[in-house]
Amino acid sequence: MSPASRVTGQRLSPIRRMAVGAPPGTINLALGEPGWPLPDVARQALADVGQGDGPLPYGPNTSRPDLVEAIADYHSRTSQTVHPVHRTLTAQNTPQGSTGHATVSVDQIMVTSGSQAALFALFQAHVEPGSTVLVPDPGFVSYPSLARLCDAEPVGYPLAPGGHLDAEALVETLLAHPRASMVVLCHPANPTGGMASAADLTAVAETCAARGVLLVSDEVYRELWVDEPPPSLHDVAAIDTGVVLGSMSKAFGAPGLRLGWAVGGAQTLAPARIVHNAMTTAPAQPSQAAALALLKAADEVLADSRGHVRRRWGIAEQVAPALTTRARSAPSSARAGIYLWVPVPRGARDAAGTDGDDPTLAFALRLRDEGGVTTVPGSAFGPRGAGHLRVSLGGPLDDLEEGLRRLAPWWTT
Ligand SMILES: Cc1ncc(COP(=O)(O)O)c(C=O)c1O
Repeated sequence: MSPASRVTGQRLSPIRRMAVGAPPGTINLALGEPGWPLPDVARQALADVGQGDGPLPYGPNTSRPDLVEAIADYHSRTSQTVHPVHRTLTAQNTPQGSTGHATVSVDQIMVTSGSQAALFALFQAHVEPGSTVLVPDPGFVSYPSLARLCDAEPVGYPLAPGGHLDAEALVETLLAHPRASMVVLCHPANPTGGMASAADLTAVAETCAARGVLLVSDEVYRELWVDEPPPSLHDVAAIDTGVVLGSMSKAFGAPGLRLGWAVGGAQTLAPARIVHNAMTTAPAQPSQAAALALLKAADEVLADSRGHVRRRWGIAEQVAPALTTRARSAPSSARAGIYLWVPVPRGARDAAGTDGDDPTLAFALRLRDEGGVTTVPGSAFGPRGAGHLRVSLGGPLDDLEEGLRRLAPWWTT
């Protein structure tokens, strides 16, 4: 018996190479998750579940209704409808200049086991074998894998300098791929920390709507801003024009809950629900209880998380100023998310030697073995990621400070 080719065809990620054989005492600045404590409200909700003496049921496939409503309410409060793009672009149903909160109904929410499961379900539901999926390059490592698991071809679109969305480049890539079935955006971006402007989101949404291509906007880092709140796709496009992904894993500080969601048109979500139900039945009940508690306390929890992130950026600027400055496309560029996207220093790049055909991986291995810090080589995120490293600011403060202290000398020249 041999495994299916859709699995054996997947390449081994350089992230795996970095994880194997790290010397003792190596500090890990590779992990993409919050290292601050789980908020108390979630801790309490989990304890309450543990103290009950009744059964712990599966619950509804669509998750508990109060959680779905809480997500709908949260999304309505945090998305502003301004000049919405509609799926069918006619003068009649494109209200220009309307402002206010987007109203999200419960059938426009799919609660999933992490936003990762939302991605899997959406891909399986909407990506035809043989079609093309446009993914950011560099971008989150799962996007190309998810496309390949659908027997589709991932095609990377380039980003603007600094890793920001470049609508023109994306649209050009889309027009060159008539078999595209889905476009994936990620902003603030993993790994680059880049943003998407409202104008760029509008341009991409209009093109996808006109061509009937499903637009998925991965916004799991959106609430972790330092300077100013980044726009959402649903600020500029109607709910049924594209799917927005959210998660408990980043700004709500609870990746271990494995709870996320998708907000989009009811008809888009309906087939994805079939996939998600077949895969997991429903997210775990204790996680749903904790997520509900976190959403009820969203204002305080998110303000706290932003405080943790602001503090981490401050440490980076203080301990490793040269590295941090180089990670930002321009001194004025807004800070958001938990990643520094750092160009490999020129001198070190030349001296890195080679690791097969991946000098970025070779340099990251040097940093790990000689410098004592694990980072992620940019090449793990797509060919255009070569020459950069992703340094995570998310982890525990002591590790972050010591890790950055070790990294700093590599970026002074
Ligand atoms: C861009 C992006 N999207 C989605 C995910 C998946 O997050 P989760 O399944 O924990 O919600 C991650 C995790 O690191 C991510 O970086």
